[in-house]
Amino acid sequence: MHGTIRSLPFPGRLGVICLCLVLLGGLVASAFYLYQHHEKKDEQPGLTLIDLQGAYHGVDNPSLLLKALNAGHPETLKAEQRSALKAWLEGTRIVEDYDNLDLGDNAPSEIIAANCVSCHARNASDPVAKKIPLDYFDDVKKIAFSRRINPVPAPILLVSTHAHALALGCVFFVIGVLMLATSWPRIMRQWLPSLALLGLFIDLGAWWLSRYAIEFVYVIIVAGGAFNVLGVLCLLCVIIDALRPGKASPQA
Ligand code: HEC
Repeated sequence: MHGTIRSLPFPGRLGVICLCLVLLGGLVASAFYLYQHHEKKDEQPGLTLIDLQGAYHGVDNPSLLLKALNAGHPETLKAEQRSALKAWLEGTRIVEDYDNLDLGDNAPSEIIAANCVSCHARNASDPVAKKIPLDYFDDVKKIAFSRRINPVPAPILLVSTHAHALALGCVFFVIGVLMLATSWPRIMRQWLPSLALLGLFIDLGAWWLSRYAIEFVYVIIVAGGAFNVLGVLCLLCVIIDALRPGKASPQA
């Protein structure tokens, strides 16, 4: 197969180049799709690690406020008020109930004003605590929301796996055959597509393993990134090969 592409007449090379451009377009589009699809999982702009951990494993990050209260901070807070604050932060009415008059002295705004603002205010004397002001709801809001993202449900992951495994398997088979038909050094022709396929296999496996162990999300990122980059690299190699001066007949 070695050198077959360079021995092709013009129409054959044109076909090879167009096929590569179509596949490149597909890989680029899937990268944008991935970004768009996962970007908004957490409230942070852009695609973050938490977005991906949320999608493949699920995350349950308590808010900074809840963490502090759970850790027993501040020691001076009465048990009843601590549980009132915790119930508020764990519920779904963080905005509505912040200064709900019906809650009386147990309204979060009242508890915070009476127990926290002496240290946590912009004009407080505590140099560390004043950096986390709690004077206004706008301040409190920033550290009140816990991030809970449920993983993609298993039936949907199953649909996604069956589509991706079969389609990407075929795409990378084609890429591999095209690479073998170039006249690049043997080490490139054989290793680049094989490593891409290895990355694909590991990536798809890690989709499922991530459900059990969040560490596999890193494997998804590395293996997924690797097979995409290698795929793009192979396609560029094939295009360059198809543009190089022709050879009369393929070598072996
Ligand atoms: C006596 C002063 C004092 C009071 C009262 C106080 N805090 Fe703090 N708080 C601190 C200091 C100092 C820190 C930073 C050091 C630490 O984490 O303990 C802090 C840290 C925090 C943090 C950040 C924790 C982290 O992990 O970074 C939060 C959230 C917080 N306080 C919330 C509250 C809330 C809510 C109240 C009232 C229910 C409150 N604090 C009452 C002094 C205070």
